[in-house]
Amino acid sequence: MRLAVAGALHRSKVAGNRRIIATMSPSSRKNASGNFTLIAHRGFSSDAPENTYDAIDLAIENGFNNIETDVQLTSDGVPVLIHDDMLDRTTTGSGPVAEASLAYLNSLDAGIWFDAPADGVGRHGPASYGDAFVPTLEEFLQRYEGNVNLHLELKSKEPELAAKVASLLAEYGWKQPKSPADAGVSISSFVPEQLERGRTAMPHLDHGYLLQSVTAETCQVAVKIGCSGIYPNAQTVTSEDVDMAKEHGLWVRTWGVKSEDDLLRAHTSGAAGTTVDWPLRAQKILAV
Ligand code: G3P
Ligand code: CA
Repeated sequence: MRLAVAGALHRSKVAGNRRIIATMSPSSRKNASGNFTLIAHRGFSSDAPENTYDAIDLAIENGFNNIETDVQLTSDGVPVLIHDDMLDRTTTGSGPVAEASLAYLNSLDAGIWFDAPADGVGRHGPASYGDAFVPTLEEFLQRYEGNVNLHLELKSKEPELAAKVASLLAEYGWKQPKSPADAGVSISSFVPEQLERGRTAMPHLDHGYLLQSVTAETCQVAVKIGCSGIYPNAQTVTSEDVDMAKEHGLWVRTWGVKSEDDLLRAHTSGAAGTTVDWPLRAQKILAV
């Protein structure tokens, strides 16, 4: 195991590359802009390599304890946190994640590709994160227990993914948060079959249907699956979409923010929050 954990952490030490981080106490969290929750997308992924501890730590260190990440299975069935179905873009490996063993993943670097912005809040310059790796979900749950509101996307389509995730969440005691500022976990997916499996394996957790846009039909699909939320693209969301979702008993948060306009559109639509790669800048734009 790469991780040493001590009790109900406010400090974690990761072996190998890895530095000691100080996590935020609940009173110092400032992720929510008014009632609009900013969710660090793949961690603070504008300034550190996505879905690595560096990106997640950077979000927490800047006050954002709502973290979105993606989970897939390795060839030997281990849930790992990576977005693409291929290793090539974000690691020194190649080929499909689903055909890579955990041992192979552990041999890869997941940060060398990232060109850290000179004006970012993380480390600066090329190869600043050359020691990052692909975390397993289990390591993540140990490391951030009690400190993160995790928005976990079931990314891949393996039928056993949801049950494996459910087993780990239960083992480490991750529960539905009572409010966005609380630690806990909720589930999302673009894949209706994964949401159905998630609802079966984790009926006590909120599930959200990720899609491009809200329609009466997609709301009905979400309701039928048992989702509590529907998550449209921020680039097109409207207040009418949010009203329609609410009429179906669904809450809305968005994704896909690429610009200030997208952020403002999401905010004024009445959505409850959004994922964003640059949460600190988003907080300043919303000025709350
Ligand atoms: O917040 C959801 C968002 O993460 C979905 O898009 O492609 O970044 O996983 P993607
Ligand atoms: Ca995602």
